[in-house]
Amino acid sequence: MNDFGSGHPFGGQGSSASEIPPMYRPAASAGGPDRVSDPIPFRRPGSDQDPRAELQEALRGEIQEELHAADPVVPDDTAVVAEPVIGPTGRPMPHLPEPRPIGIHGNARVISMCNQKGGVGKTTTTINLGAALAEFGRKVLLVDFDPQGSLSVGLGLNPHDMELSIYNLLMQRDVTIDEVIVPTGVPGMDLLPSNIDLSAAEVQLVHEVAREQTLQRVLQPAIADYDVILIDCQPSLGLLTVNALTASDGVIVPLECEYFALRGVALLKTTIDKVTERLNPKLHIDGVLGTMYDGRTLHGREVMERLVQAWGDTVFHTVIRRTVKFSDSTVAGEPITSYASSSAGADSYRQLAKEVLARCLEE
Ligand SMILES: Nc1ncnc2c1ncn2[C@@H]1O[C@H](COP(=O)(O)OP(=O)(O)OP(=O)(O)O)[C@@H](O)[C@H]1O
Ligand SMILES: [Mg+2]
Repeated sequence: MNDFGSGHPFGGQGSSASEIPPMYRPAASAGGPDRVSDPIPFRRPGSDQDPRAELQEALRGEIQEELHAADPVVPDDTAVVAEPVIGPTGRPMPHLPEPRPIGIHGNARVISMCNQKGGVGKTTTTINLGAALAEFGRKVLLVDFDPQGSLSVGLGLNPHDMELSIYNLLMQRDVTIDEVIVPTGVPGMDLLPSNIDLSAAEVQLVHEVAREQTLQRVLQPAIADYDVILIDCQPSLGLLTVNALTASDGVIVPLECEYFALRGVALLKTTIDKVTERLNPKLHIDGVLGTMYDGRTLHGREVMERLVQAWGDTVFHTVIRRTVKFSDSTVAGEPITSYASSSAGADSYRQLAKEVLARCLEE
């Protein structure tokens, strides 16, 4: 038997922690735990200096040194050193330019929202990042690739009312993508909807030739029409998720800022690495996104610090804070950017859109 085993497209039945290869971290953090899933050596107030303050001080020192080196002629008493703004991830916030309008659409970048842990904000990020990118004038296609159909429901569709869904597109050769795409209430943003039928596709695809490339094949005609295609994955690393990763240029990993959320990330990284190695060499991790962040709690700040230790600059500077507005907007069937346009949650997704554009859509 090959090393994939039978229960998972790439892995054996059940994955014990001992099967999960270690995630290597930058040398700066040497001496700490070796894997993302290792316990975080949390420091409590009183036992040591606040780790966040230490980090901020170190960063400030580095940046001030650089500024002085770049400007040696200014006399001491007139020198003005801009204080760097430290973002919620503990790093200086970069300047994110206002996205420029674009005249010609097409050549879409395909990005999967992927994490096998449930309830971490994949669907919320797909809807709201998509809506924010559409606000900035980008043509966006959202792909609901979860049989739960939460993305479709979150945009106001009734799962029982769908004439055609992504299931038909995957399984019936005579159905075209234009027949399945539906507009959403957000101008410039369309949707490939899904419902429970998609769970049958996972079983049926097993017998197909090039079963991992099926989504890539059916999405191909849409690449020329959109600037970005966001795929909302289901919470598993099964064949549907492998299809999504094979069809993608990039992957965004939403991660709830909570200790247990860090466990299992190593397995996700292994799956991404295997897809990159065997099916899709261009696949790139566009970023890890901290969601449901609560900066008022020490726990939230410590998990964020651990995330940056493990993933470095892959972690987006933007974090999404915990707010009940997201659940409210789901009930309303629309993105937070229109449901509560001036809320902090809407602004966070606009900032994420700017960061995604600067990082991987407009180099
Ligand atoms: N930043 C946030 N603050 C508070 N609640 C949030 C936030 N983001 C998402 N939620 C809520 O958390 C729940 C799970 O979010 P979501 O459906 O986006 O996760 P998911 O990763 O797609 O879940 P699944 O794995 O089941 O598909 C939803 O009720 C959503 O409204
Ligand atoms: Mg979801």
